[in-house]
Amino acid sequence: MNRYAVFGQPIAHSLSPRIHAAFGAQLGIALDYRAIEAGRDAFATTLAAFARDGGRGANVTLPLKEDAAALCNALSARARRCGSVNTLTRDGDSWRGDSTDGVGFLRDLEHRYAGPTRTYDPARMRVLLLGAGGAARAVAFALVDAGIGELAIANRGRERTSALAGALQADCVVAHEWSALDVAGGGWDVVVNATSAGHGDSGLQLPSTLVAARTFCYDLSYGHAAQPFLAWARASGAVTTSDGLGMLVEQAAESFERWHGVHPDTAPVHAHLRAVLDARD
Ligand code: ATR
Repeated sequence: MNRYAVFGQPIAHSLSPRIHAAFGAQLGIALDYRAIEAGRDAFATTLAAFARDGGRGANVTLPLKEDAAALCNALSARARRCGSVNTLTRDGDSWRGDSTDGVGFLRDLEHRYAGPTRTYDPARMRVLLLGAGGAARAVAFALVDAGIGELAIANRGRERTSALAGALQADCVVAHEWSALDVAGGGWDVVVNATSAGHGDSGLQLPSTLVAARTFCYDLSYGHAAQPFLAWARASGAVTTSDGLGMLVEQAAESFERWHGVHPDTAPVHAHLRAVLDARD
């Protein structure tokens, strides 16, 4: 049986093995997909051993996405631009790298955004992106590629804000000072939290003026890590919010398609995982 895996640290709670097993069952594709714990020091040797044992494809999560890009012989254009890889595909005796995070985010946004007061039309949408790390880069490039009307970027550290805004090379991109977000104004159609603040103790300090009732607030994390931002969004008046569970399922579906040549139906898998997460709480 062909072998697949997700690498990262920590990895024990990864939902990726469940997602790929569910896709395989849905499409009648037998596969062996495991979670393999590896930190940055051990990643290259662990990945090489996986390839020797018949590994055909791998997903990569924190903190390995940049290291994965360096271990590939070939990169997709979007992986090269983002400087990160979340999907590795065995090609002869080397790895090909791709980044499916951005397209996963866009697909989920498209599913979730439209409502009674909103139409999903990227060209008419104004998005505020919080953060400029690896996750934010993938989302930013995807939004620009989708023809977003305005993409404002604010990161705590100013250098990373300018670096990302500069790399995007697009007229729709505006850089904002993190410390001046209260004067950046509101009216955003979407506010995306791409910071990792929810994973730590430091917390996000954000002005409630960023949010209006119609603003859709999206956190790229899921589970407990997404809760502080989503609670802030609701307290600030947002009516619709979403965590990043849908993005996780959609990026997995993109990886699955690269490996197996067919795109799975994500909706039932998303619903199943939502129930799993709710039961964990
Ligand atoms: P990831 O791959 O998840 O994006 P990363 O590349 O380490 O992880 O990026 C983490 C992001 O979260 C950065 O934008 C970071 O801001 P800095 O560049 O200023 O460090 C942001 N971040 C983390 N904790 C934060 C906090 N408490 N408040 C605001 N931003 C935070």
